[in-house]
Amino acid sequence: MNKRIFSGMQPTGDLHIGNYLGALKTWARMQYDYEPIFCIVDQHAITVYQDPAELQRKTEDVAALYIAAGIDPEHSAIFVQSTVPAHVELAWVFTCITPFGWLNRMTQFKAKSGQQESVGTGLLCYPALMAADILLYQAGIVPVGEDQAQHLELTRDISQRFNALYGETFVVPETRLPVVGARIMGLDEPAEKMSKSAPGANHAVGLLDPPNRIKKLISRAVTDSKPGVDFEDPGAGVRNLLNIYQAFADVTNDEMKEKFDGMRYGDFKKTVAEMIVSHLEPMQKKYEELTADRDVIRGILKKGAERVTPIAHATMDLVRERTGLYRG
Ligand code: TRP
Repeated sequence: MNKRIFSGMQPTGDLHIGNYLGALKTWARMQYDYEPIFCIVDQHAITVYQDPAELQRKTEDVAALYIAAGIDPEHSAIFVQSTVPAHVELAWVFTCITPFGWLNRMTQFKAKSGQQESVGTGLLCYPALMAADILLYQAGIVPVGEDQAQHLELTRDISQRFNALYGETFVVPETRLPVVGARIMGLDEPAEKMSKSAPGANHAVGLLDPPNRIKKLISRAVTDSKPGVDFEDPGAGVRNLLNIYQAFADVTNDEMKEKFDGMRYGDFKKTVAEMIVSHLEPMQKKYEELTADRDVIRGILKKGAERVTPIAHATMDLVRERTGLYRG
């Protein structure tokens, strides 16, 4: 079986516990069983306007958070998308074989384009670039949150279409969704996924939030009108807090029920907040160390790009041969 895994995140917004539980934690856990490549996708970020100086800084910040969250740069390749130009080269080939209708029906495109005054073509072609990220490395497994499942499905369709048109070239990757924690919801709005761009001040717990703020945020989280945890039938907000606790603590459903069934909301929220703080504190310490000397991060990103570039080049050689693009 193909042991290569690929995943990535955009260097926009502030990462929160939903990003950690839905992605980073799974990546860190999986890494030693596979050959992992983790990317910071700055070219996806500019599908909507980003402040240039901030984008530079956030790209390194996200790299530091990957490492702080347990991704081991000695084992996993960590690099920035735009430093390996083969991504856009392959993306162009994919946009040429991807029917407009496939892109136009993507729910993320519909949601994001609705928020923009002027919609760049890059926002439409976003999934073709994502397919290129993955297929460039012939990654067999792609651990992503549920919100990316549709893009992954499209990646599979694109790889199959290329293979049908030009002959067997690409591995058709599988999606790997995390078991718990794939879908952490907003604290103020438990019907909506916790999001980097949501406006509410009480919406998300940021990975860099100090303990006091975390306690305050959790104490303000929406619950339901019951006095305490009804484990068999919790309201959406309570279910979300239970999911958050369980995803951090890695405990079974039985242990969860034993601990929380009937617990009053004041105590429940305190317990959840303490669990979050105990996991984020060491991560924050590591992050502070890493961002104090940016040369270390820059070195890691450079080394990461050097590691993956030969793989990318090998795939592009094959793509040139298959498609007839001029090789001289
Ligand atoms: N679209 C993904 C997101 O917003 C980020 C991403 C880009 C990605 N390329 C990828 C994820 C390749 C997995 C694999 O979360």
